[in-house]
Amino acid sequence: MVAQINTICCTFIQPNFIKNMRIYILGYMAAGKTTFGRQLAKQLKMDFADTDDYIESKYQLSINQLFKETGESNFRNIERGALEDLSLRDNVVIATGGGLPCFFDNMDYIKAHGTSIYLKASEEVLAERLNVVKASRPLLKDKSKEELQESIAKMLQEREPFYSQANIIVNADDEDRVVSMMVMALKYQ
Ligand code: S3P
Repeated sequence: MVAQINTICCTFIQPNFIKNMRIYILGYMAAGKTTFGRQLAKQLKMDFADTDDYIESKYQLSINQLFKETGESNFRNIERGALEDLSLRDNVVIATGGGLPCFFDNMDYIKAHGTSIYLKASEEVLAERLNVVKASRPLLKDKSKEELQESIAKMLQEREPFYSQANIIVNADDEDRVVSMMVMALKYQ
């Protein structure tokens, strides 16, 4: 069942409530997966991991360098490995790279290993944020403002069928409430 949570208030969950849980945060680039995932982990007294950080530290290369040196398809294989490695952990919030749920059977793997939350941001908000931070995203870094908007719209259309399989969908445009909405949805899912 998918819980669509848009307007709810803050709550507190006892850490025991989510004992040994694995929570995957999904969504497009710049949806806030790392920022809000880290805050969620802190609030729930869980560990936090990020697939891109894990890959960068394991290979001692930035995501940009990995794309450039090995190509996207090799990156997707590496990303799958990171998903499997990080899924060996318990009591952890895992922020996934924006494309991760959309390759191989990664979405099925995520659903089999924990609870997933899709941070759903609007095209307008994503375009605004990515216009500022696109340099670290190999798939977008060379795009003009217009091209960026087109790419976001096209990729979101392709990716939505994967993201929307998440157990929980939270409106990520409302930055002040994202974490409290995730907590509430987890409690009542
Ligand atoms: C990608 C998203 C990035 C990173 C890589 C590819 C994507 O992660 O994994 O640049 O295909 O959407 P973020 O979503 O953390 O930016």
